[in-house]
Amino acid sequence: MRRLAAKRSHDPQNDLMSALVQVDEEGDRFTEDELVAMVFLLAVAGHETTVGLISNGVFALLTHSQQWQRLLEDNSLIDSAVEELLRFDGPLSTTELAFARTDIEMRGETIPQGAIVLPAILSANRDEEIFPDADKLDITRDPNQHLAFGHGIHYCLGAPLARLEAAVTIQALLHRFPTLRLGWLRTKWIIPAATFRIGSHRCPSAFKRNRRSREPSVTMCVDWTVGHASRACDHTDIPCVPVRFTLGSVTLGSRDPL
Ligand code: HEM
Repeated sequence: MRRLAAKRSHDPQNDLMSALVQVDEEGDRFTEDELVAMVFLLAVAGHETTVGLISNGVFALLTHSQQWQRLLEDNSLIDSAVEELLRFDGPLSTTELAFARTDIEMRGETIPQGAIVLPAILSANRDEEIFPDADKLDITRDPNQHLAFGHGIHYCLGAPLARLEAAVTIQALLHRFPTLRLGWLRTKWIIPAATFRIGSHRCPSAFKRNRRSREPSVTMCVDWTVGHASRACDHTDIPCVPVRFTLGSVTLGSRDPL
């Protein structure tokens, strides 16, 4: 990362690192440490999480085809659908480590002052006392006070951006492939550490269009992780459609703008 930062400061290209090394606010520039921290933040906190939300979310919708259909018929449900996808199978299993500032009584147990606490987001989001039929995917769920973005002072800084990206992408996919159905799966869940989980590894799912539709039946891989060298899709047998993000629009494949 440091080598890349040094390289780009001498020879800027059309990429994120070059943009960051060139930031200059009245002579105030990123130090090398700040640059590295910023790139990690954007890549891990900002990119991987949203990739996980979209891939988990599309997978959830396609395995609950009535919900997919409902969303297709009523576009105004997109915001509430994104909230439900965040709740139902959000990309992070826990928040950051937290520490009890005082003794805390909870359900007959005492968490002693200073103890490490690791709130389990996915578990909280399926709490039957808060969410009726918690294991059911319901894109009209209201209220839906999930904890996918954490809570309190460290509430996710990028939540509005993540919501927007998911809404734009899922709407684009619905619009472009209304008859999309799950074809087969090649899903490996990443669980790099017991505490952290982000979506699926490599190509999360492969889809085919509905055979009953007039469109030709095409099996394809929808690869959300394009640009991520370590996760490049490696299919040789089916067409792979990279999904690219640019703010405000989504491109499916390089020549196929939506
Ligand atoms: C679906 C996508 C995302 C999810 C599920 C998510 C989830 C979270 C969670 C659970 C936390 C920790 C909250 C805590 O410890 O209490 C967090 C913190 C954070 N997130 Fe996100 N995030 C997402 C997208 C993003 C994006 C797109 C960005 C930035 C572009 C971002 C930037 C941050 C930052 C900077 C923090 C630290 C906030 C702080 O400590 O004050 N996140 N996020």
